[in-house]
Amino acid sequence: MTPTVGIADETGDGERRVAASPASVRALVAAEHAVVVQSNAGAAAGWPDEEYTAVGATIAASTAEVLKEASVLLCVRGSGPGAATWEGVGSSHVLAGLFDPLGEPAAMQRLAETGATILAIDLLPRITRAQPMDVLSSQATVAGYKAVILAASLAPRLFPMLTYAAGTIPPAKVLVLGAGVAGLQAIATARRLGANVSAYDVRAAVREQIESLGARFVDLADVAAGGEDASGYATGADADELARQQEALAAEIGGSDVLVTTALVPGQRSPILVTAAAIKGMKPGSVIVDLAAERGGNCEGTVAGKTVAIGGVILVGAENLAATVPQDASQMLARNLANFVLHIAKEGDIDLDGEDPIVQGTLVARDGKLVNERVAGLLSATAADAPSTVTS
Ligand code: NAI
Repeated sequence: MTPTVGIADETGDGERRVAASPASVRALVAAEHAVVVQSNAGAAAGWPDEEYTAVGATIAASTAEVLKEASVLLCVRGSGPGAATWEGVGSSHVLAGLFDPLGEPAAMQRLAETGATILAIDLLPRITRAQPMDVLSSQATVAGYKAVILAASLAPRLFPMLTYAAGTIPPAKVLVLGAGVAGLQAIATARRLGANVSAYDVRAAVREQIESLGARFVDLADVAAGGEDASGYATGADADELARQQEALAAEIGGSDVLVTTALVPGQRSPILVTAAAIKGMKPGSVIVDLAAERGGNCEGTVAGKTVAIGGVILVGAENLAATVPQDASQMLARNLANFVLHIAKEGDIDLDGEDPIVQGTLVARDGKLVNERVAGLLSATAADAPSTVTS
């Protein structure tokens, strides 16, 4: 029988997204999945229970009831602060959603011990075939947009050039560091608001994309820090390279009114691109939105989840910005997750065998064990770093 898909209410702090939208439920029901949604799970995203029942879902009163009825559970945040405890989850369940397995390997181990199968969609390979399921891209798009809107609302300056009866106000200067999915959306949004935009990324391949959005590419080829791996991700830079990069960026940072930083390296702490000295060189009233805050931040002084003032500069340690646009972020994410379920459900069952890179890439735990080598490796590295217990 086609597996029942369940959606529980998200419990994470400030998490307003939901793993199913009325549109994604309709797609799952059309493929003969029964769908059970916890009452009020979509409320913060603007979808009352009736919108789900209208497209064929049933409503469950509690998370326990969802777990009882469904074998495939979709979630937005499967681990980390405030995430579900997954009480009642067992070997009959398949969990699919964002689990941050490289950041939370110990949580993955605990969850694996329940016997549940874990599919972390954050590990989806960046291949063309997987794009309709790419939750990281869809949520980074929302975060990049919102980072600029946030910066514009905090900045003491207008973004566009404005001519009025007594003269002209020049456009604000926006600098974006890191031009992946979030950075490119930040550039596009700042351009739409009329700002003068520059951007830098360690991957030279993005120059064309930055320029095609009407922004200037900051070329630091002489101090190139890090590079690109086979899947298109940045590889980490060493300390010397990073120091040269920080120095070369300082002048660009000092000349900007707004700075949006988005630089991430998978499985590592985010690189510090903006030093305390560079922040000191910015004009009073300048605004920084650090989208890498959850991974340690790109700026010295970033505090995740907090806005701090450093001299006259406002530094926002942005956390989970996608959740602040819950309806469209959920719309995109839910569609990604439904596409994922439709991809892995074959002949009425979930098919995890075979060589499919989408399944192999996302499968983290099965039959009580961690099966993803990177996650298992990170876990043993953490265990090796922990102080050993001395018994007398
Ligand atoms: P990400 O969120 O891991 O990193 C954000 C950006 O930070 C990246 O562009 C990275 O190069 C940059 N960065 C890292 N260290 C830096 C440093 N020291 N200085 C400056 N910039 C630094 O990346 P995201 O947005 O997830 O995208 C990664 C790649 O995957 C991109 O090439 C993107 O085009 C590609 N991609 C491919 C897809 C596909 O299906 N083919 C789908 C989505 C993304």
